[in-house]
Amino acid sequence: MRNRCRVTKGLENMAKMEVKTSLLDNMIGVGDMVLLEPLNEDSFINNLKKRFDHNEVYTYIGSVVISINPYRSLPIYTPEKVEEYRNRNFYELSPHIFALSDEAYRSLRDQDKDQCILITGESGAGKTEASKLVMSYVAAVCGKGAEVNQVKEQLLQSNPVLEAFGNAKTVRNDNSSRFGKYMDIEFDFKGDPLGGVISNYLLEKSRVVKQPRGERNFHIFYQILSGASEDFLCKLKLERDFSRYNYLGLDSAKVNGVDDAANFRTVRNAMQIVGFMDHETQSVFEVVAAVLKLGNIEFKPESRVNGLDESKIKDKNELKEICELTGIDQSVLERAFSFRTVEAKQEKVSTTLNVAQAYYARDALAKNLYSRLFSWLVTRINESIKAQTKVRKKVMGVLDIYGFEIFEDNSFEQFIINYCNEKLQQIFIELTLKEEQEEYIREGIEWTHIEYFNNAIICDLIENNQTGILAMLDEECLRPGTVTDDTFLEKLNQVCATHQHFESRMSKCSRFLNDTSLPHSCFRIQHYAGKVMYQVEGFVDKNNDLLYRDLSQAMWKANHSLIKALFPEGNPAKINLKRPPTAGSQFKASVATLMKNLQTKNPNYIRCIKPNDKKAAHIFNEALVCHQIRYLGLLENVRVRRAGYAFRQAYEPCLERYKMLCKQTWPHWRGPARAGVEVLFNELEIPEEEFSFGRSKIFIRNPRTLFKLEDQRKQRLEDLATLIEKIYRGWKCRTRFLLMKRSQIVIASWYRRYAQQKKYQKIKSSAIIVQSYIRGWKARKLLRELKHQKRCNEAATIIAAYWHGTQARRELKRLKEEARRKHAVAVIWAYWLGLKVRREYRKFFRANAGKKIYEFTLQRLMQKYFLEMKNKMPSLSPVDKNWPARPYLFLDSTHKELKRIFHLWRCKKYRDQFTDQQKLIYEEKLEASELFKDKKALYPASVGQPFQGAYLEISKNPKYKKLKDAVDEKIIIAEVVNKINRANGKATSRIFLLTKNNVLLADQKSGNIKSEVPLGDVTKVSMSSQNDGFFAVHLKEGSGAAGKGDFLLSSDHLIEMATKLYRTTLSQTKQKLNIEISDEFLVQFRQDKVCVKFIQGSQKNGNIPTCKRKNNRLLEVAVP
Ligand SMILES: Nc1ncnc2c1ncn2[C@@H]1O[C@H](COP(=O)(O)OP(=O)(O)OP(=O)(O)O)[C@@H](O)[C@H]1O
Ligand SMILES: [Mg+2]
Repeated sequence: MRNRCRVTKGLENMAKMEVKTSLLDNMIGVGDMVLLEPLNEDSFINNLKKRFDHNEVYTYIGSVVISINPYRSLPIYTPEKVEEYRNRNFYELSPHIFALSDEAYRSLRDQDKDQCILITGESGAGKTEASKLVMSYVAAVCGKGAEVNQVKEQLLQSNPVLEAFGNAKTVRNDNSSRFGKYMDIEFDFKGDPLGGVISNYLLEKSRVVKQPRGERNFHIFYQILSGASEDFLCKLKLERDFSRYNYLGLDSAKVNGVDDAANFRTVRNAMQIVGFMDHETQSVFEVVAAVLKLGNIEFKPESRVNGLDESKIKDKNELKEICELTGIDQSVLERAFSFRTVEAKQEKVSTTLNVAQAYYARDALAKNLYSRLFSWLVTRINESIKAQTKVRKKVMGVLDIYGFEIFEDNSFEQFIINYCNEKLQQIFIELTLKEEQEEYIREGIEWTHIEYFNNAIICDLIENNQTGILAMLDEECLRPGTVTDDTFLEKLNQVCATHQHFESRMSKCSRFLNDTSLPHSCFRIQHYAGKVMYQVEGFVDKNNDLLYRDLSQAMWKANHSLIKALFPEGNPAKINLKRPPTAGSQFKASVATLMKNLQTKNPNYIRCIKPNDKKAAHIFNEALVCHQIRYLGLLENVRVRRAGYAFRQAYEPCLERYKMLCKQTWPHWRGPARAGVEVLFNELEIPEEEFSFGRSKIFIRNPRTLFKLEDQRKQRLEDLATLIEKIYRGWKCRTRFLLMKRSQIVIASWYRRYAQQKKYQKIKSSAIIVQSYIRGWKARKLLRELKHQKRCNEAATIIAAYWHGTQARRELKRLKEEARRKHAVAVIWAYWLGLKVRREYRKFFRANAGKKIYEFTLQRLMQKYFLEMKNKMPSLSPVDKNWPARPYLFLDSTHKELKRIFHLWRCKKYRDQFTDQQKLIYEEKLEASELFKDKKALYPASVGQPFQGAYLEISKNPKYKKLKDAVDEKIIIAEVVNKINRANGKATSRIFLLTKNNVLLADQKSGNIKSEVPLGDVTKVSMSSQNDGFFAVHLKEGSGAAGKGDFLLSSDHLIEMATKLYRTTLSQTKQKLNIEISDEFLVQFRQDKVCVKFIQGSQKNGNIPTCKRKNNRLLEVAVP
């Protein structure tokens, strides 16, 4: 994808190239000074001026970019411009800082070469702006993504923070960097930013306490006072009015076009993005406020008894507020401003400070506090932007260091700054002029030497370890005895007097004795960029950078974590009696490290030129520009460039880089690298004047040749990429195809399995259904068959039965026939035999012999029959039903008759045994049977009961004596009966007596006769057909006894009583008594006829029938 993008980009670029292929097109003046003709100072400046007037602020000298500060914003840094310069060759478009940035970035990304961008120039020439442009360009073109964007944002946002704390308005530049900055941006192998490391160099801290006329303190002080809210200011114990603070120069507190308040918001926002915690930001501003307020502490002299002057703080209010802000004990700080303790080995001496010393101490504290805060900020930013990975990183360094400075009053700071610029010039010379020329010679390339000014001698004047100015200063600072700036100057006058770049009025060299422009307290150095006069005043102090130990200890005691961390040497436990390294030596060491670092990287130069001193647009001060061109050695630079070769490279990397352009060298060249390069260049038909073969390197004269090579390589790489892409895609597709094929097989097999399973399930269930249907059908068929078979069998059986029947009948018939025949035969035979016998024996018999035999035989048979019968006779019991079987058919009637006779005889025999009484009893029983058998349900139970008649023994019971006396006749029945009350159906016990002529009812208890009815008056007896003992005795109407009506009685011996009543009535009246058996009959009670009805009742009263009067005409008897 990425490759594809690159290919499309390449095509786009090619399309663009067709429109504008070179910086030569539409060029104003000459874009590359190498092409300038004729080449001299005037033409050089004119070319620059011409271009500057047409807003072309960038011009090349080969690969070096000259940038002229336009002092106004030009529309040449837009995102469209970024896109225009992206991935384009250096000389393809008009000169631009973006072209250099792109070149550096691509060479870092694609060729794995660490880069450094060295931006040099005077103060205000546009270095800082240039460095920001480079960074923003790289940020715009390098990788993208949330994480990468955060890294970029943090790297970019570190600038506003450092500028607020480290930049200030000077007479030369409204945003002058008062510190040196070198930033390493780290990238991964793809060219995505990973993080960065910032190194800072010597902050101009003297500015904190004092600023030259027309200049300002560091921006941050003004930004806080203008931009912080009232609330925040109150927290910091600050007031908005600048004039309240001694450390803020009054004359130029406001800078035109600078909005401090807005910048303050930008800074706070940037701090947040970079990763400062809220409490850290708060602490930083507290320290800034403390520094500002320190300047307001004032001292007054106070004489002491011993005559010594002592300082005293005028107004302690400010001190109190500082202490509140920083958490320092007020008395500790107050004491630190009044005393100085010197410790030497075991001794500890405390001396009081006079007013001047107190002010010195105060300023030293303010400067240290601020500069240490600045270093802490850099460290803190580094912590945030540090790359989070340990993989190998590619590095692009951007150096933005303070420019060469020549002020009216130049002090130690300017000396240091200018020394640094000398070193940068030196490295420029080393890498471009000297090294280049030396290389041609080393490589055996034909070369005519070009003169240029080498500033190594000036560097030596400053940094020589024995005779260098910095070494002298250190020596003087460390020397025991009285050391002043004058003694230092004296020393310089002695040691450096003969140095041709050193000038001093008092030097032994009489050259400057009468030079009035050179004051006695000054020395002058002829820098590569011009002469600078330095005031020696303050050199020793600034180099010593002394902070009284009492103050650092007071700071360490602060209840403020940041301040405490800024003064680690204040910790009494870590007292170090050794002198700290001087500011000069520290700076020298760090510059040396920087130079070493730069030498390991591929340099890219941006030479910034300031067009005027007025910070104004459109003004091109030729003299000023000329001066800068001279000291920057730009003309020499062009000359070397023109005479030399634009590009060189060792044979191995060259072959490695371009070997794909030739079939013989691609993919491997077996011989020596140089031969390979020769073959390659011949093959590519590069004109011979365009290159030279050195001892170890190939030199290419014209950049265009190189670009042509690069373009060819690019094209070839595209082709190779396409090839690789093609193969890769083929491989990928094949792998994918194979994978898909494999997957397809797996899926198909699974699917098939699944489908088969489904199908199987379906078939199975269908089979089961079909099976069940078939089984059902079969079963039904079988059933049908079985039924059919059964029917058949039954039919067969029936047929067989019929058949057998028929057969049997036939057989029977046949047998009968046969038997008949046999019988007939036998009869015939017998007849025939008889006939024969008779014929035969006729002669022997008489004429009626046959009759006699027959009769004899019959007689014998009868005899036998009777004899057998005698033996088989049954018992004499009339109820015995047994009778022997009939022996002969012809005796059938005889046998039956005999049985009848025998039975009659046996009954007679039985009867003959009876006595007269028994006979009477049986007669009565016989009578009862005739009257009641099969008519009354009560009858069968009475058969087995003997008829006793007199159940009550009246004659024997004295209770009934009266009754006995009253009845003189023979008593046939004496029995207790229940008389049913006609009113309610309840029963009353009565004695029932039957005599020969009367029926009597007497009271059971008293024996008094209640009723007496002659038998002739009894007309009828009624009873039910059921199993009850109720009966009604109907009386003749109009008879004497009939006054009270009929009797409704109940007795346990109803059958006996009714029988006896009947017999007695018959024998006395010769009339049959009417006995009516019916379940409903009428009874005459006095005048009323009441119906007595018998119904089937429940068995709740056992087997006793109950009688109930239902209404006037109905008495209901429930029989169980
Ligand atoms: N490319 C530019 N386009 C527009 N204005 C510019 C450009 N370069 C510089 N300037 C203007 O010039 C001023 C000074 O530039 P800058 O701060 O970069 O100088 P410098 O070389 O860093 O100086 P010093 O050494 O004092 O830090 C900037 O504040 C800006 O106004
Ligand atoms: Mg700057």
